[in-house]
Amino acid sequence: PPRIDRTAADAQQRAAGWRMDRLTSALVPTMGALHEGHLALVRAARERADRVVVSIFVNPTQFAPTEDFASYPRDHDTDLAKLAALGVDAVFMPETAEVYPPGFATTIAVAGPGEGLETDFRPTHFQGVATVVAKLLLATQPDIAIFGEKDYQQLMVIRRMVADLTIPVRIDGFATVRESDGLALSSRNAYLTPGERETAPVLHRALQTAAQAITTGGNPAQALDAARAALADAGFVVDYVELRNAETLDVVTNPAAEPLRLLAAARLGKTRLIDNIAV
Ligand code: PAJ
Repeated sequence: PPRIDRTAADAQQRAAGWRMDRLTSALVPTMGALHEGHLALVRAARERADRVVVSIFVNPTQFAPTEDFASYPRDHDTDLAKLAALGVDAVFMPETAEVYPPGFATTIAVAGPGEGLETDFRPTHFQGVATVVAKLLLATQPDIAIFGEKDYQQLMVIRRMVADLTIPVRIDGFATVRESDGLALSSRNAYLTPGERETAPVLHRALQTAAQAITTGGNPAQALDAARAALADAGFVVDYVELRNAETLDVVTNPAAEPLRLLAAARLGKTRLIDNIAV
């Protein structure tokens, strides 16, 4: 079974030991409730470093008061069994008070890729993410940290933060793992009713249709409007469907000359789904 560290000091000591032995390590940060998307990141970590660390921490500061922090799925025993089966070497599983001790007063705010899209609907979300990921990196001290493209804006925010703060870690992205009908795996898919689950793949299909239209020379604004309409028709409440520069997440000025990414967020009942694809 993996070694379990519950304090940053213990995780740092473990990291120092590996470094002394000249072993590289890769971190996969998670909030638990592990599914095949998370496990694909863990397998990638295995291939990319000598030792694998997974962190499990449901981070309260990235949830708004109205969001699902209290009800977010937690199943540590099942998670640890899955990680043991994959040969994970260490799990960092701190209590909330270890990460946020009394008097905690520091926040990392990333502008640039951290502004717009998700932030228009979850204004403090990425401050919570950036702050906790910085703390997870400082505790576990990996050579590589792997993040899913499922949360594409999050990946860009972390890349920006690591570059700006000169954190000595390589950030790797990993392709989104999907169900056979295209729905991106997510812990929140468990909230969907059977009817909503049938509708959910429309999100990915709408993005694919728009990407295809843009790739074949269609008008981007029209393609985005068609995607929004398809989602609304299927019963989604659309937060956004946007075309952005894939590296900066800036608004696109010259679609023919820039790397492009389509990003969307939409709600089905009380469940908010996000997805994105390359164009
Ligand atoms: P969580 O939602 O648990 O996701 C952990 C990691 O798994 C993230 O890098 C996420 O992008 C990736 N992931 C989730 N679903 C995926 C899928 N279908 N395919 C590929 N990768 C997928 O993201 C977070 O936790 C938190 O914000 C965290 C970074 C841990 C900070 O609290």
